[in-house]
Amino acid sequence: MTGRSRPAVGALPAYRPGKAAAQAEAEHGISNAIKLASNETPWGPVPSVAAAIAEAATGVNRYADHRATALRRALAGDLGVDEASVTVGCGSAGLLQQLCLTYVDPGDEVVYPWRSFEVYPVFTQLAGGTAVTVPLIDDAFDLDAVAAAITPRTKLVFLASPNNPTGTAVSARDLATFMESVDSTTLVVIDEAYREFNDPALGDPVTDVLPHHDNAVVLRTFSKAHGLAGLRVGYMIAHPEVVAAVDKTLLPFAVNAIAQAAAIAAIEAAGDIRERVAVLQEERARVVAALIDAGHAFPQPQANFVWLPFGGRTDEIHLGLEQRGVVTRPFPGEGIRVTIGSADENDRFLSTLAEVV
Ligand SMILES: Cc1ncc(COP(=O)(O)O)c(C=O)c1O
Repeated sequence: MTGRSRPAVGALPAYRPGKAAAQAEAEHGISNAIKLASNETPWGPVPSVAAAIAEAATGVNRYADHRATALRRALAGDLGVDEASVTVGCGSAGLLQQLCLTYVDPGDEVVYPWRSFEVYPVFTQLAGGTAVTVPLIDDAFDLDAVAAAITPRTKLVFLASPNNPTGTAVSARDLATFMESVDSTTLVVIDEAYREFNDPALGDPVTDVLPHHDNAVVLRTFSKAHGLAGLRVGYMIAHPEVVAAVDKTLLPFAVNAIAQAAAIAAIEAAGDIRERVAVLQEERARVVAALIDAGHAFPQPQANFVWLPFGGRTDEIHLGLEQRGVVTRPFPGEGIRVTIGSADENDRFLSTLAEVV
């Protein structure tokens, strides 16, 4: 044995990222594979963001602004909140890890519905916490059961809305009702990585929940709708005391200068980004209609992906798709998650699925 890793780390599963198209091509001896496995957008950054990235690249001999002052200011202005209520992290996944580092001691509990985002158990375990999972009902959250699972030892609750991988979402109104039953010593983290794709009628936790509950936290990201997954920048809106505590655990300069400049440019390019989101929402509606026509049953998606609960047929269907160059995300024995891509990619997925099934 080389070195002595902590038991918590030894017991961790390795994080499984979505498979790259090139890797699938090499494994199956094929060409022209497409990746619909990581809920990325199919296009590169919009032109103004690409220009900001190129300009920021000329200054990388310097460290970035660790506090990301300009980006926080831009976010606060955009969201209509105080600057002290916003912070940024190395993707929203980075902020999830920081939240565990900040609040979870060995023996503390972290409650979340399951299945949900795969890093929740990893970061909980890494901090020495105990995961308390609450089963989904019809692929959606059972908030009464989540409330019932909270104990005085619960430090954090993670609620992904829309949920990954099932794509179901919770309304701000239901979240506000749920918050009434949660003690103020437990933080409730509303993880909105896919918020831009959901139905606006679901409301906005930043305006409808946060002002009434100091223990509510909202996480968002530039990775999905804004198309900046590779730059790693996410943000958190929370009570200033929570922001100050979580900020202490940020790796120095973890949000790099290019990411900060790109995020500011993306906020300024809101109109262009909305147009792209609208295209993906239309594509999602088209894919959903085609899948229903083909006889598939699945939850109505609120994010940029579709969850197909194939159960025992999951592995066979996932492999069949991948051998034909369509890379999706399998959850063995449960289902596959398929990202909404460009129109051509979606057509390819639909025709290949018909062939495989
Ligand atoms: C529910 C959810 N939250 C957070 C993230 C993290 O995204 P990022 O770290 O790129 O901001 C993801 C990414 O897949 C996600 O699905």
